Amino acid sequence: MNEADRIWDELEDIYSQWGITEIPFSESASILGKSQLRKVFTGRSQELRNVFSLLKGKERRRILVYGWIGIGKTAFILEVLDVLKRKATNTLTAYISLPANTDLATTALIALAREMKEDKWAQQLLNQMGLLAAKSLKQREITGKLGIPGSGVEYKEKNIDINQPLLPELSFEDLLKRALEKYDRVIIAIDDLDKQDPATVKQLLLNAQGMLKSGAWFILTGHPSGLTRDILMSERGLFDLAMKLEPLEQDIMYKMLVNYLNSVRSEDCQYSVEDPKAVEPFTPETAKMLCDRSSGVPRWLNRLGSYVLQKASALKAETITPEVLQEGFIYTDQQVKGQLGLKATDLMVLDLILEKDILSDENISLEELQKLKVQEFSELLPILDKLTELDLIRRLPNEQAMEFTPTPLLLPHSGE
Ligand SMILES: Nc1ncnc2c1ncn2[C@@H]1O[C@H](COP(=O)(O)OP(=O)(O)OP(=O)(O)O)[C@@H](O)[C@H]1O
Ligand SMILES: [Mg+2]
Repeated sequence: MNEADRIWDELEDIYSQWGITEIPFSESASILGKSQLRKVFTGRSQELRNVFSLLKGKERRRILVYGWIGIGKTAFILEVLDVLKRKATNTLTAYISLPANTDLATTALIALAREMKEDKWAQQLLNQMGLLAAKSLKQREITGKLGIPGSGVEYKEKNIDINQPLLPELSFEDLLKRALEKYDRVIIAIDDLDKQDPATVKQLLLNAQGMLKSGAWFILTGHPSGLTRDILMSERGLFDLAMKLEPLEQDIMYKMLVNYLNSVRSEDCQYSVEDPKAVEPFTPETAKMLCDRSSGVPRWLNRLGSYVLQKASALKAETITPEVLQEGFIYTDQQVKGQLGLKATDLMVLDLILEKDILSDENISLEELQKLKVQEFSELLPILDKLTELDLIRRLPNEQAMEFTPTPLLLPHSGE
C-alpha cells in the first residue's frame, strides 16, 4: 500500500474508533446544509418563540437580529426560515447575504426573484442583472481596513458585477405584488448588513425605508455596534422587534456539542445528553472544559472543536483526555495566529493585548504607542477591527472605554 493510502486508512480508523464519520464542526452556518443545521441547531428557544409569535400575527413586521461575530445570527435566521418553509402555509421565504455595493431594494429583489423560479419575469430580471437563479452571488475575502469601532474590516468582493435595475424599489414592489398573488406572506431575510461600513449601512437603511414598509416581512441581521443603537433609537419605527443574540448557557453548549457529534454518527448510534458516550471521543469532563472555553459563543465551540479533533487524530488519541485537550488548544492558538493576512504590526498589537490581557485607550502607555509607531490609540482601530474580524480579539461590552481582550481561541500569556 502506498503511503498516502496508509495515512488515509489510519485516519479512517481513528474516526471509526471515535464512532464518527467526520469532523462535524463548521465556521459559518451558511455552509451547512439544511438537514445538517436542523440536526445541530441548539437553544435559542426564547428567541424562536419571540419571532414565531410575531409571525403568527397578520400584520407584517420588520425584525432586526443582532449580535457579535459568530454568535449565531446566520444559524438563527436560517433555522427560522427552514421551519417556516416546512410548516407555514402559503409563505414564501427568501434568504440573501447582502452583496457589496448593492442597495437593499436590489438585494431584496434578487432574493425574492430567486425564489420565484416559475415566474418568467422574475427570472428575466435576474438575467438582466447578470445573475443565475440558483447561483451564489459572491465570495468574501477579508482585506482589513476601516477605522470605525466594532464595525469590522473591508471585504474585497470577488463579485459578479450586478447591473442594478434602474428603479429597484419599483421593480421590487412589482415583483412583490406578483408574489403576493400566489402567497399570503413573503418573508425576506437579509443577512450580514454589518459587513459594510456603518455609514453605508445607515444610508442603505434610510434609502430603503419605503421598501422596508412595503408588503413583505423583513428579517435583517447586524452587529451591535454604535450603528445598531443609532438605528434603534433614532429610526424608531423602522423595526418592530430588535433581538439581541447573547452568548449561550453552558448546559446549552454541552447539548450543542452532543448534537454536533450525533450529526456525524450513524442513525442507530444516537446518544442522549445524559449518556457519557454522547460526547465521545471527549469525556464528559473534557467536553465541559471545551464548552467552558467556548464562552457561550457557537463559532468558538466549532473552531476549538475542529482543531482539537484534528490534533487528537494526529496524536492517535483514543480519548480526549485533559492533556490531549490542552494540546488541541495549543494547536488552535498556533493555527489562528498563522492565519493568512496578518502583518507584522498586526501581530505586535496582538502580542500587546495578550501581554496586558485587556488593552484599552486608557491603559496603553506612550511608550507602547511609540513602539507601534502611532501617536494615538485611535490609529490602531483598523488593526483592532481586523483582529476582531479574524476572531483573535473581541471588544468588551463597555460603553465608556474601548477595551479589547483575546478570544479563547488564543492561549493566555502564562505571565512569565
Ligand atoms: N444555535 C446554534 N446551534 C448550533 N450551532 C450554532 C448555533 N448558532 C451558531 N451555530 C454555529 O456556530 C457557527 C457560527 O454561527 P453563525 O455563522 O450563525 O454566526 P454569525 O453570528 O452569523 O457570524 P458572523 O457575525 O460572522 O456573520 C456556525 O458553524 C453555526 O452553525
Ligand atoms: Mg453570519
